[in-house]
Amino acid sequence: MNILDGRQIASEIQEGIKQEIIQLKSQTGKTPGLTVIIVGENPASQAYVRKKHKIAQKLGINSKIIELKADIPARQLIDQIQILNRDADTQAILVQLPLPEHLNTWEILDHLSPEKDVDRFLPVNLGHILLNRTHIFPCTPAGVLRMLDYNQIDVSGLNAIMVGRSFIVGKPLASMLTNRNATVTLCHSKTRNLPELVQQADLVVAAIGKPGFITADMVKKGAILIDVGQNFLYQENQVLEYCTEMQQQKFKKKGYGITGDIHIKAFSKSSHYTPVPGGVGPMTVALLMENTLQLFKQQVHIE
Ligand code: GUN
Repeated sequence: MNILDGRQIASEIQEGIKQEIIQLKSQTGKTPGLTVIIVGENPASQAYVRKKHKIAQKLGINSKIIELKADIPARQLIDQIQILNRDADTQAILVQLPLPEHLNTWEILDHLSPEKDVDRFLPVNLGHILLNRTHIFPCTPAGVLRMLDYNQIDVSGLNAIMVGRSFIVGKPLASMLTNRNATVTLCHSKTRNLPELVQQADLVVAAIGKPGFITADMVKKGAILIDVGQNFLYQENQVLEYCTEMQQQKFKKKGYGITGDIHIKAFSKSSHYTPVPGGVGPMTVALLMENTLQLFKQQVHIE
């Protein structure tokens, strides 16, 4: 079994972006601008946003965070988005999800300029993905494909199972794998015979947010396992059941352990697998930086 090392691949991608930004700045006098809007105080979202900001700054991206109160009226949030749509120094806008209950996600996202939609979530952008008409993809699905490419894994002809149908991961990634000629089964919480379907799969992608949900007995020997889940566990018995020894050690210091959606015992049956943490997570951040750079190049007409 081979580890698909997201930290290593992400750091190589980031180094390339950093160099390109230096070069573009000398050419144009401009740097890419990324603004992240975060509403409320969801601790996981805050941690993700801080991480994105830190890395963006390290790469020379002009990174801004707009923090808004949890009870902000929809109108004010939309006004803020429209200001950024008109701001020539911001080429990439990200509205961190989930939004607080009182805000309807699509009523908000619909106001984002499609060109500045760095997540590529808007219907027009997802439509281009479905039709295989773009090379800019949502960050996590793009990160998954990049890990496969880096390890020269060709998915053409493989039976792939995508577990999870969110618009952030499952729906776009199922399309992207289909466009690469995999035979994709898209599963979700109502799927009846999931273990049998997983058993058939050469490639398993899990993005559901349930610790250890895909168990070792479901997985075919030699399968490629991609774990998009990032679950925080706070109870010792759960940490002992689901986390690696390294995470069990961390639990003693930090009070939580992190694990994915694929049970750690399944990895020994795989040909390749992504660890959690250190797999898909860092790739998502690296691809956000790459998307920011792509949008910058489109909007300042370098491409
Ligand atoms: N929340 C969890 N993942 C994501 C993501 O990729 N983009 C945004 N905007 N919010 C998220």
